[in-house]
Parts: sequence; structure tokens; C-alpha cells
Amino acid sequence: MERTLIILKPDTVQRGLMGRVISRFEDRGFKIIGFKFARLSTETAEELYATHKGKPFYPPLIEYITSGPVLAVALEGHDVIEEVRAMMGKTNPREAAPGSIRGDFGQRMEFNVIHGSDSQESVERELPVFFSPDDLVKYDMEKSRWS
Ligand code: RTP
Ligand code: MG
Repeated sequence: MERTLIILKPDTVQRGLMGRVISRFEDRGFKIIGFKFARLSTETAEELYATHKGKPFYPPLIEYITSGPVLAVALEGHDVIEEVRAMMGKTNPREAAPGSIRGDFGQRMEFNVIHGSDSQESVERELPVFFSPDDLVKYDMEKSRWS
């Protein structure tokens, strides 16, 4: 079973939208295997977004993601990496389709609600930023066999 990492960004926490965003993944049938609420240090944020270092939006991105607490969630499910990316919608909420998370909850690039790992390699790099192997909980979710 595939795993991925999502992060509900500071705007989502401050706007009280965590539950509604998490509900979408629960409704889809994805299994939550890790939860971590934290305020990222600059060092951790730089580690997370290392691939964007040097780009013009990198400094404001680091400022944004460290501006308040975030909720990191580890999810498990069939093709969960690609499916979560589809559910998130395009990076810029202005271009994200209605019905997608960014298309329903965001207005502009500066506050785009959610992060999701974009590949297996990204998952392998990003999940350990928040979770040690022991933090990821193994359990049977009865409804999983129907999802
Ligand atoms: P994320 O990594 O947060 O899931 O977003 P993404 O894959 O859809 O987009 P990515 O290209 O990885 O960009 C990472 C985050 O940087 C901010 N960004 N700003 N102003 C800009 O042109 C710009 N481009 C990217 C966004 O917060 C984006 O989510
Ligand atoms: Mg990305």
C-alpha cells in the first residue's frame, strides 16, 4: 500500500479549515497513519522545500510555511500520491478547478492551503521530516477493504 505526506499550511490552521480538509481524505477512504501538529523551524522548512532553493518564491515560501503551526498527516491508500495531488488541484488556487481542495478553499498563490508530496522520491524525503517509522501507526481500518 502506498503512503504520502500532506501538510495543512498555516492559513488552513488559522482559518479553522483543518477538519474540513481532512474529511475529504477520510471520505475518499484513505487511511490516516500519522498526525503531527507543529510549528516548523526555518531549518526544517528549508529541508522540506530544499528543491526550490534559489527560486524567486523561495524566501516568501519559507516565511509562509513557518508563519504559524501546520498539521502534517501521513496517509495510506491505493495510488494515494497521485490521487492526493489530484484532489489538491493546481498550485495556484486561482487556476485550481472548483471541487479541488485549493479550488474550493483558496484564492491566491500566497495562501494555497495544502502541500502534498509529488512523487515516491518526495515521499521518501519528506515523510521523515515529520515522522519516524515508529510514529506511523499500523492498524486495521475495517472500512479499508471496501475502499
Ligand atoms: P506543494 O509543494 O506545496 O505541495 O505545492 P506544489 O507542488 O503544487 O507547488 P511547488 O511548485 O512545489 O511549489 C511549492 C510551493 O511554493 C509556493 N509557490 N509560489 N509565487 C510562485 O510562483 C510560487 N510558486 C510556488 C506555493 O506555496 C507552492 O505550494
Ligand atoms: Mg511541490
